[in-house]
Amino acid sequence: KILILDFGSQYTQLIARRVRELNVYCEIHPFNKIPAIDEYTKGVILSGSPSSVRQEGAPQVDFNQFHGKLPLLGVCYGAQYIAQHSGGSVLPSEIREYGRANLDYIHSNNPLMKDLPAKSQVWMSHGDTIKEVPANFEIIASTDTVKVAAYHVKDSQTYGIQFHPEVTHSLDGKTLLQNFIIDICGCSQDWTPFAFADETIASLKEQLGNDKVVLALSGGVDSSVAALLLHKAIGNNLYCVFVDNGLLRKNEFESVLESYKTLGLNVKGVDAKDQFYAALKGLTDPEKKRKAIGGKFIDIFDAEAHLIQDVKWLAQGTIYPDVIESVSVNGGPSATIKSHHNVGGLPDFMKLKVVEPLRSLFKDEVRRVGRALGLPENILGRHPFPGPGLGIRILGEVTPEKVAILQEADYIYIENLRKAGLYDKVWQAGTIFLPIQSVGVMGDERTYENVVSLRAVESVDGMTADWCHLPYELLAKISNEIINNVKGINRVVYDISSKPPATIEWE
Ligand code: XMP
Repeated sequence: KILILDFGSQYTQLIARRVRELNVYCEIHPFNKIPAIDEYTKGVILSGSPSSVRQEGAPQVDFNQFHGKLPLLGVCYGAQYIAQHSGGSVLPSEIREYGRANLDYIHSNNPLMKDLPAKSQVWMSHGDTIKEVPANFEIIASTDTVKVAAYHVKDSQTYGIQFHPEVTHSLDGKTLLQNFIIDICGCSQDWTPFAFADETIASLKEQLGNDKVVLALSGGVDSSVAALLLHKAIGNNLYCVFVDNGLLRKNEFESVLESYKTLGLNVKGVDAKDQFYAALKGLTDPEKKRKAIGGKFIDIFDAEAHLIQDVKWLAQGTIYPDVIESVSVNGGPSATIKSHHNVGGLPDFMKLKVVEPLRSLFKDEVRRVGRALGLPENILGRHPFPGPGLGIRILGEVTPEKVAILQEADYIYIENLRKAGLYDKVWQAGTIFLPIQSVGVMGDERTYENVVSLRAVESVDGMTADWCHLPYELLAKISNEIINNVKGINRVVYDISSKPPATIEWE
């Protein structure tokens, strides 16, 4: 495996993804919490950072454990750090270096630079630059403005690069990382979804023995893949609970429950619609609604868990981005924009041990594992859907009547996206019920009814998103169908806001 030490760069997770794409396992750890270096660790990558090595209090890493012993690649801050700690000098750049650049000089005989084409395009993002390198450093790439774009410490396996190979704008970044990880570190490329599934099932068997495990299914990819892995390991000792909170899409509860049963999962569907509607009665504040939905879910799930005699474990579909400890080098952790209740901890009153089979996976890897395990496409390819469901897509108070109207409108929208072949191209789509009414005319009658907004976004991870430019003809067709078929709606609008500054959901 490859160990990635994080100095807080916004790109650290991307480095990990690139390594995984080579079918090599890797882990990200904060620079100041280096895990024990075991025999499986074949190389170390030091990430970039928003800090400057020249600052007082700049992140320091105790690298004696691996420096000179294992192959080491410093990226940006990591490269400057190694250079400075070996006697080189790092100074502010005269010109700030952001964006595209080309490598005018490449030492093509150097193993790190193997197969890089002349003038390879790279992506720079730095305010400091390495001015001087010690005598035993060899410069292996330069641009017209950055002399030390890459270096190799002679007679060692230590390398530094000033640019970011992990971003797609560094066109040959993948080749460079492959040179380091496969040729220099000697990692084998055997970390595949099938290998992951086999190893995980074997270790779950050993960890859980004959114990009983309870898991809440949501209909989403993560909990479904976690359930399948556990089911393959312990069979019917896995007790799945799928709660109908009355805030799911039209027919979703029934159809997903059916899919789970077909997969052979030991699953119990719990109809708790009325309890959720009662908890939401009179609430209009988005955060209060989220808390009410989250709290009610915990009550119901806890009651279900108590019905399983001697249950010892709680399984969760937590994935790697939720686990990685973020390094906050400049200032504190980011502000809470919305409380996503399902990434919180375990409620105190559920004294169960936690098992999280997907803790080391990124979202796209969860999908690949799911596919390897035979999870059907209707679950694998499903758009992300928030835990509080339609509860946060009905602005203001939630009532069963509004849910029914929204479900119909949303159904028409999503089915039309599917028919147009656009469902899989859109990252997430949904319909929002607005808390206003507007005047319309139907036949000779004046109407005064509700407005829904359609939302469709493109995104990679939900952190940033752009609105989709859906064809006008399609929007026209959807609007027509909704207004003609869904009683209670006389106006449809389309949301053309990106995130930031808007968010994907409206509440
Ligand atoms: P926002 O609205 O913050 O959404 O731009 C980003 C992504 O997160 C989803 N989302 C949630 N998911 N529980 C969830 O499980 C929540 O409370 C929640 N709120 C938003 C949203 O659907 C989008 O994919």
